Amino acid sequence: MKKVTIHTLRKMKQAGERITVLTAYDATFAALFDAASIDALLVGDSVGMTVQGHDSTLPVTMDQMVYHCGCVSRAAQRAHVIGDLPFGSYQASADEAVKNAMRLVAEGGVGSVKLEGGADYADVIRRIVRAGVPVMGHLGLTPQSVHRLGGYVVQGRGEEKAARLLADARALEEAGCYALVLEAVPSAVAAEIARALTIPVIGIGAGVDCDGQVLVCYDMLGMNAEFQPRFVKRFAELAAVIRAAAEGYRSEVRQGAFPGPQHSFSSSPEPRAAPRAGPIALAANGADPAAPAADGEGGDGGQANIISLPLPGVSLPAAGSQVQGTPGRAGPESESAQAAHSDDRPVKLYSVPTGMLE
Ligand code: KIV
Repeated sequence: MKKVTIHTLRKMKQAGERITVLTAYDATFAALFDAASIDALLVGDSVGMTVQGHDSTLPVTMDQMVYHCGCVSRAAQRAHVIGDLPFGSYQASADEAVKNAMRLVAEGGVGSVKLEGGADYADVIRRIVRAGVPVMGHLGLTPQSVHRLGGYVVQGRGEEKAARLLADARALEEAGCYALVLEAVPSAVAAEIARALTIPVIGIGAGVDCDGQVLVCYDMLGMNAEFQPRFVKRFAELAAVIRAAAEGYRSEVRQGAFPGPQHSFSSSPEPRAAPRAGPIALAANGADPAAPAADGEGGDGGQANIISLPLPGVSLPAAGSQVQGTPGRAGPESESAQAAHSDDRPVKLYSVPTGMLE
């Protein structure tokens, strides 16, 4: 399989093919997005907010970024992986910036790095590119400058600010950036910048006329029920799915319904009858996720405790049919689950395979 490179992304712009980017912070999500043929995975410093629970990206460290970049790079077979240079890792000097960019490549396994800032960072970008590391720029709302910007607010409104944004974008292209993220910028301004540059412009809250789009994966998956900014579309409501699964688990444990005999070990090893499905089954029949198994023996290996939730844009399989809940777990796949794997590649294993602990 051909790996997506910065040259692939440039060719996609030239061909008018829109580029898809999602953030990823761990191997499981990265493998799933890779199997869905997302072109690039951004290990964003948004990890500080989505995973670490901070209220900004500022506390994220280089060591943490190296760790998360490694998790994602090991799982991405096709997608280009971009590592974010965190706050404080490139602002003080070009020497430090080069060293840290090289760490993300050498230790984190990424194919390029991203940094925030305009023409002021042209020299730093030149130095990193000269060292052999491709750089993605980031303009508009740059979260590492949240204190200077006075909050998470739309940038580039008004002629003067729009002109400054365009000048910064040109300076980044000139300095050697292979692509540019534009965040929270009026659609018309973003469209003008995308037209003016030869490098791909990837938008987030920047309208449909960019050369591609990036979203924070936790946002587009609906992992935080309270967070719904204008620029995010939720393609799933996973907060509700995960909560229902946890409540189903809690209920079965409290009732003594889980683990059942089929989840328990006997004194001597027994051959398995049939492959087991993964832990999550979806059904379209409105079954009560907290209901104990009808056979009174507590659970049936993933079929009794089913979750029925409407997922926008996702058609649920027929009642009782199984979809893989954990990458690589054995079990028949429904048609809709197979369709989700757009290129039919198997998702890499990141959990103990069924059959290892019998
Ligand atoms: O850190 C991040 O996730 C980002 C995207 C929002 C572009 O920089």
